Amino acid sequence: MDHFVYREGRLFAEEVPVAEIAAEVGTPFYLYSAATLARHYRLFDEALAWGPHLVCYAVKAASNLALLKLLGDMGAGMDVVSGGEYRRARAAGVPGDRIVFSGVGKTREEMQLALEGGVRQVNLESEPEMRALSEVAASMGLRVPVTVRVNPDVDAKTHAKIATGKSENKFGIPIARAREVYAEAARLPGLEVVGIDVHIGSQLTELAPFEAAYGKVAELTGVLRADGHDIRRLDLGGGLGIPYTRSNEVPPLPADYGAMIRRTVGHLGCEIEIEPGRLIAGNAGILVSRVIWVKQGEGRDFVILDAAMNDLIRPAMYDAWHDIVPEKEAAADAPLAPFDVVGPVCESGDTFARGRPLPPLAEGDLVAFRSAGAYGAVMAGEYNTRPLVPEVLVSGDHVAVIRARPTFDEMLARDTIPQWL
Ligand code: LLP
Repeated sequence: MDHFVYREGRLFAEEVPVAEIAAEVGTPFYLYSAATLARHYRLFDEALAWGPHLVCYAVKAASNLALLKLLGDMGAGMDVVSGGEYRRARAAGVPGDRIVFSGVGKTREEMQLALEGGVRQVNLESEPEMRALSEVAASMGLRVPVTVRVNPDVDAKTHAKIATGKSENKFGIPIARAREVYAEAARLPGLEVVGIDVHIGSQLTELAPFEAAYGKVAELTGVLRADGHDIRRLDLGGGLGIPYTRSNEVPPLPADYGAMIRRTVGHLGCEIEIEPGRLIAGNAGILVSRVIWVKQGEGRDFVILDAAMNDLIRPAMYDAWHDIVPEKEAAADAPLAPFDVVGPVCESGDTFARGRPLPPLAEGDLVAFRSAGAYGAVMAGEYNTRPLVPEVLVSGDHVAVIRARPTFDEMLARDTIPQWL
């Protein structure tokens, strides 16, 4: 459920007509609903209410400071994967003891940043990283809480580019080697082993792969405890999928996910952390764009939008489907015709949809890409010198531009022509 709905034939974001914002801000832009974001966070929080837990929002999904502040103020923790994301979480007012630091290639500088600012735990992904973190922490006179991310070798049954839990992936350490890695971690002076971390992939639409991974984590908890480690926290990662289209299978709800967690690891008495990103932000955001031209091609017709692959890369990168809806609601009996929906960027990959059945669209019409709140704005760039796409937040009848579109002067001023040219 989200708060982007038609009212008397026009698309609204909560209490605000989308067309009004488009007139004010210009297109394309991302538009988030605060109520939807808050609701999704609460669903996870309630799903784990059976025991001690912290929902650590995966900042990578949508990292605007306003969104982080909204979630942080509700009590959310944050999962960050870079010094930049760590700075964002802190700038949004999230205390260090609610920030989990993940990521496969943390540098010593990033470790130091997190240790100085405070961190709930660092999720370690390799032995060299583990030794470096211990050195950095010890040199600051600290012992930092850590988990080791284990790779459980389960098939997440998702797109290959976003599966992370198979042995061939770069993530974590093989679960079979966990005992020796934990033994070394326990000996290192700068580390305090507190738990186990696992994350197997993103956009999972079934519980079975999670259940397989969490079962292995439960077993490992017993083994590591027998080895003398005080395993008291389990970070179970993110990954629960969202419905991108109505015709697709419907992914499990957070409540089902929470119940499965209770079933698989609830008996261990550990504090549970999860790191959802997509399910919190995905359906809380749309990308609003305007039709530049409708063009008849050889055997196919094109809708050319003012949004492009640099604004929303998911279709080009993962063959992802996003529902595309007109801002003016189509009549129930409006004829649908197949269109290729494309952007103005100069490569064929700049295609959002092929042969998509759409109601009649004309030059100047507004359309919205649904489910674009996660991995949308954060993956945007300025290819073809297209200004970085702005972001807007709606809450009830409040509207705020939370990231303005840069001007061309600002964009060009970032370059420097060396004197010797
Ligand atoms: N925790 C870790 C360690 C992760 O690597 C990720 C996502 C998450 C949590 C959050 O997963 P989520 O709940 O959002 O599925 N750009 C891709 C998705 C990349 C996901 C990367 N890691 C896309 O647009 O589909």
